[in-house]
Amino acid sequence: MSAELLTQDEIDATVRPIEQARCLPGRIYHDDQIYAAEMERIFSREWVAVFPAAKLPRRGDYTTLELAGRPLLFVRDNAGAIRCYSNVCRHRGMQVALGEGNQRAFQCGYHHWTYNLSGELTNAPEMPEMLQCGIALPEIHTSVWQGVVFVNFRDDAPDLHQQLSKLGALLEPWNADTLELLYERPYACDWNWKVMFENGIETYHILGTHRASLEDATPTHISYGAPGDNRNYAEVHLLFDPNAGELFPVDAVVPPLPDLPPWASEKFVYFAIYPNLILSQTPDGLQTYITIPHSSEESTFTWAYITNPDAKESPNYEKFKRAQEDFADLVQGEDEVCCRPVQASMKSGDYLPGPYNQRELSVWAFHRWYVHRIADGTEATATW
Ligand code: FES
Ligand SMILES: [Fe+2]
Repeated sequence: MSAELLTQDEIDATVRPIEQARCLPGRIYHDDQIYAAEMERIFSREWVAVFPAAKLPRRGDYTTLELAGRPLLFVRDNAGAIRCYSNVCRHRGMQVALGEGNQRAFQCGYHHWTYNLSGELTNAPEMPEMLQCGIALPEIHTSVWQGVVFVNFRDDAPDLHQQLSKLGALLEPWNADTLELLYERPYACDWNWKVMFENGIETYHILGTHRASLEDATPTHISYGAPGDNRNYAEVHLLFDPNAGELFPVDAVVPPLPDLPPWASEKFVYFAIYPNLILSQTPDGLQTYITIPHSSEESTFTWAYITNPDAKESPNYEKFKRAQEDFADLVQGEDEVCCRPVQASMKSGDYLPGPYNQRELSVWAFHRWYVHRIADGTEATATW
């Protein structure tokens, strides 16, 4: 038990039944020691979502990011698989690739060592003997699930598809691997990653924060939370009010995917997949919301939408795309109005942990998942 990170009283207050439970202390949203423990015990151990696979559709497409302090390079290789390498040159440590783009090989900018799409060293100026040494960029486990790329730093990473099998079966009709990227919108956040993630997984705030965007179509009073598989994810159900108008004009809608279950047109379901992915369905695709932490008080929240490849043929496609991007900006703008002051309050030391509303069941479930990992740093079996 790491009493210095969370006290037993703080843990006990959160893991009680939701009616009697209290939120976690404000310290977890800004303390650097807690952040370091999160990187070690959560982001270096769990499967972590990074981006939709459709972001890298062609061979040689690549992107880079830093996760838990480690520079990573993601590329679609010559066999069509997405692979993740340590983005640290095997010579003297420069990052082998920067930003994103398309490359047939990666030439390090420092002394021009070159690596192929399989991560193998193929050129080392003035040092050809290096090519005989089997030098390659270390590879990190990846798994693509529902069109989303995940990474896991552990040698003994569990099977992600098995871990999320219940939800995978539910979403099978969407054929996520066939969907194409409609948009990806990263939002820089000067608040803790959990402030952002928790905001995205409860419906209680729709009645206040999202009056202009969501409250008419998916009002708080008919929404509800559900426990998911009681382990890896929870659910948030936003039912469409049958008396409300449509969220989007009819000429900004593309044909739905075939053979979806009836519930798909009755509500949005947001699946809160710990620690950092929110996934929701639409009649024509899937939306992903991924939070990447950068420090105790900085993160990036990226909205993306992957759709039916036939959507491009629709005369409504351009209007659809613009309407969806504008909607993302509107909703995110509304959330930012709340997240920034919440971060300031957490940092002030004046926050007294409050109760959970029933519509915040996902936040409570996430907090229980979280304390089991932060409190002892092991694969603690959840007790609920
Ligand atoms: S650090 Fe990459 S070639 Fe020298
Ligand atoms: Fe929100």
